Amino acid sequence: MPELANKRIVLGLTGGIACYKVAEYVRRAQDEGATIDVVMTEAATRFITPVTLQALSGRPVWLDAWDTRAHNNMAHINLTRGADAVVIAPASTDFIAKLAHGLADDLLSTLCVARGSCPLLIAPAMNREMWLHPATQRNVAQVQADGARLLGPAEGDQACGETGSGRMLEPHELLAETIAFFQPKVLAGTRVLITAGPTSEAIDPVRVITNRSSGKMGYAIARAAHEAGATVTLVSGPTALDAPYGVHRINVQSARDMHQAVMAQAPHADVFISVAAVADWHVSNASPVKLKKTADSLAPQLEFAPNPDILADVAALPNGPYCVGFAAETDNLIKHADQKRKRKGVPLLVGNLVQHAMDSDTTELTLFSDSGQVSLSPAPKLTAARQLVDAIATGLQRSATNR
Ligand code: CTP
Repeated sequence: MPELANKRIVLGLTGGIACYKVAEYVRRAQDEGATIDVVMTEAATRFITPVTLQALSGRPVWLDAWDTRAHNNMAHINLTRGADAVVIAPASTDFIAKLAHGLADDLLSTLCVARGSCPLLIAPAMNREMWLHPATQRNVAQVQADGARLLGPAEGDQACGETGSGRMLEPHELLAETIAFFQPKVLAGTRVLITAGPTSEAIDPVRVITNRSSGKMGYAIARAAHEAGATVTLVSGPTALDAPYGVHRINVQSARDMHQAVMAQAPHADVFISVAAVADWHVSNASPVKLKKTADSLAPQLEFAPNPDILADVAALPNGPYCVGFAAETDNLIKHADQKRKRKGVPLLVGNLVQHAMDSDTTELTLFSDSGQVSLSPAPKLTAARQLVDAIATGLQRSATNR
């Protein structure tokens, strides 16, 4: 199901060059099933035309508090009734100041004051000096204290040629924030550490031993945990995936690199989710130079030494995080997964059959814990990840109560 199905969003544009990015946001939000009512300030119409936004949203664009198209002539009331959120993007310095003071001198500012319990999300976009000005910072703090949620801003190159904080989020980031806004915050305030992807063990500088893990499940869990309000660190083996928005990624290659990165982070984590397909062995006689074919074509003799068990080491930490393991099996899932949970000493282990998950966008998870086993229905990996995050939040709460 699209992520914003049945959601109606009132999208307010104020004056700023970032208006051009919002056309793409409208498109993408619609692809996710959202219905979008666009409201523009007079300044916004200097940067992008209402025609563009009407064509993209497929709905009338609203500009004027006196617009007679509203039967009761109350567009400032009607638009937010039944809406799921008001998103202001870009939010200019001037508009944030208006919000902070409750000014209502055009349609968009009036509907913000009149919106009642409809949530307000604002994506600032301005020059870095304007963003850092004490008055702007005061106004932003006030708007947040009044309940608005801030989306960004980001740091980077600005249209004016300067570099710094104040850039509006990119369309895909705005979309990720919008989708995340509607997810329950079951992990708010927690720090979650996740491993994902394969590991890669060097034979020589150009050859490696790895496995077929795509990293999709671990990345989906990282996204779901971030959406649930957690601060997420993802220690990832080599994958072709982009880091989910808002997630801090640490890239590693070998199991020993992963072990080192995880052990440095684990004491600061509340939850550790070990999704990576970690190699059990590394080549102990890896060559520092590229191996050459020999005249008799004999393959070089590789010697192996065991890798550390990352999950077992984290689970053994005194006062360590709540640990969640994974077991990807080809057969006897229940037997293997249950034994693995006990062997690794973790409260929750997630089992799946390789043939249901490998290289796929869907999966079929079974959760093993002290209270028994629960099978989730086959689902896209993000849906399964959100269900798992829910179960982890419950488990975490229970373990805190028992401590
Ligand atoms: N794991 C780990 N470090 C390792 C091996 C595994 O952290 N060196 C973690 C995986 O991330 C997963 C769980 O342990 O959460 C089970 O991994 P798996 O490879 O299925 O189990 P193994 O202990 O390696 O057992 P086997 O290969 O015999 O199935």
